[in-house]
Order: sequence, then C-alpha cells, then structure tokens
Amino acid sequence: MPELEQALAEVAAEMAERTDRGDVATYIPQLGKVDPMKFGIAAVTNDGRVILAGDADQPFSIQSVSKVFTLTLALGKVGDALWHRVGREPSGNPFNSIVQLEHENGIPRNPFINAGALVVLDAILDHGDDLLLPFIREAAGDDSIGYDEMVAQAERETGHRNRAMAHFLKSFGNLHNDADRVLDAYFHLCSISMSCLELAASFAFLATGGGSIATPRQAKRVNAVMLTCGVYDEAGDYAYRVGLPAKSGVGGGVVAVMPDRFTAAVWSPGLSEKGNSLAGTMALELLTTKTGMSVF
Ligand code: DON
Repeated sequence: MPELEQALAEVAAEMAERTDRGDVATYIPQLGKVDPMKFGIAAVTNDGRVILAGDADQPFSIQSVSKVFTLTLALGKVGDALWHRVGREPSGNPFNSIVQLEHENGIPRNPFINAGALVVLDAILDHGDDLLLPFIREAAGDDSIGYDEMVAQAERETGHRNRAMAHFLKSFGNLHNDADRVLDAYFHLCSISMSCLELAASFAFLATGGGSIATPRQAKRVNAVMLTCGVYDEAGDYAYRVGLPAKSGVGGGVVAVMPDRFTAAVWSPGLSEKGNSLAGTMALELLTTKTGMSVF
C-alpha cells in the first residue's frame, strides 16, 4: 500500500484526467459561476504532516460542511439535551426536505439536514450571538476565516424553503429565538469561505479525539453522526464506497475523517444528484482504496 503522500498525489493525477464532474449548484450566482474543473485536495495527519494537491489553497463556499462546527459547538454548550430537539438518524430524504417534519412533530431527523441545522443554531443562539466564527477560527487555528456577505445575502434572497422550515419549526415550539434571527445565523452559516487546507486543519480535532475543541466522547459522536447523516441520502453509498465519516456542502467541498490518523478535504464544485461533490466522492473512494485506510 502506498503512503498517504504518494496516494494523494496519485488521486490528484487521476482526477485531473476525469471530465465527469457533475453540475455546479446554480441557485445562487456565486456558486453557479465557479469553474467545474477546479479540484483541490488536502490531508492533515495526526503526526503533523500536511499534504496538498491542486487548488488546495483556494477558498470556496463550504456551505453545509459548516454544520459540523455548529453540532460540535452545540454539544459543548447544551450537551445531551440537544437530542431532545433534534434526532440522530439518517433522513433518507434530500437535505432541504420538509416532509418528515410534520409527521415527526417538528423534531428534525438529524443536525445536518437544513431543519436540524436551524434547531442547532437556535440552541447556540440561546448562549450568545457571535459564538460560531471564534469557534471555527480556533478549530482552524486561523483568525482570517470569515463569512462571505455576498453569499449570505444571496442565501437570504433565495432561501424561501429555509424560511418556511424555520417558521414550521417555530409553530411546533422547536425554535426558542425569533425565526428571523435564526435564519440570519443560518444564511451566514452557509456563507463561510475556506480552502481545503483550512478545512482539513479545522477538522483535525475529529481525528485526534477532540483536542482543545471537543471531548473524546463528543468527537466520537460527531464522527458517528457524520458517518450516518453527513452526506444526506447518499450516506449508505458513501460508507460503502469511501468508508469514512464525511460531511459535504453544495459548494462541492467534502471533508472526511480517519480517526487516529488524518483528515482529508476535497473540493470539486460539480455535484451528484444528491448534492454531494461528484469528483470529491470519487477522490475519497480512490484515497481509501489506495491506502487501505477506512473505519471498516
Ligand atoms: O440552505 C441550503 O439549502 C443551501 N445553502 C445548501 C446547504 C448545503 O450545502 C446542503 N448540502 N449539501
């Protein structure tokens, strides 16, 4: 089996040959105009190695990848009480689906679908206004990470389904704060820009048993929820093909965690039908196949 350095270089070279990249998200212009041929990959190992290829340094819209930070932050603030308000089962539905919410009395299936992220943000807002960015900056060890206000504004203008979901949650009593306050936090949550390198570094706490960011138990739990719910209704296929806990976003970013070993972040903006990076998934599948490293 090749070392991670060699495997990652081989993956980048093989992916550069591939032209099947899926389609970029077009619901906001900031995502629609991204070059679908962009490709970056970064790995950060627990023994301090940083391995980069392609556009690994270029910031992009991480979108729902940020929901891992909100879940971790909320578990730290609220603890197990969070699970009274949001489940931890795969939804089997698209990330922005609203249908289960009525049948399940306003309790979202998991923290990574949009409805679940709204509830998690609401729980964080109970503890203060500006907790998210400092938390992400600490996890990444980088104070320059911030919101892209143009993306946040575009999310606000197009976010009718998220708006509907927030008010629906409110009608079930599962939002404590004003729906508009939660939505503003949500639209900003979707607007964070980071590079593969920053993402891999900021997820390192999940490979190292929590570090200064989470307890070992919290890290284990966040990894478990990523494995079962991190890529929405593609979670089964992901576990089968990649075999690592992972979290995706519609900007084409995906971060995977090999506990005790490394984190890997990939960016390829074209998406699968289910809204996960098409080439990003292929790259992670290649990486775990070449190295023989997966949680299975
Ligand atoms: O809120 C939304 O629906 C968009 N900003 C997409 C968020 C996202 O990345 C979901 N996942 N893949």
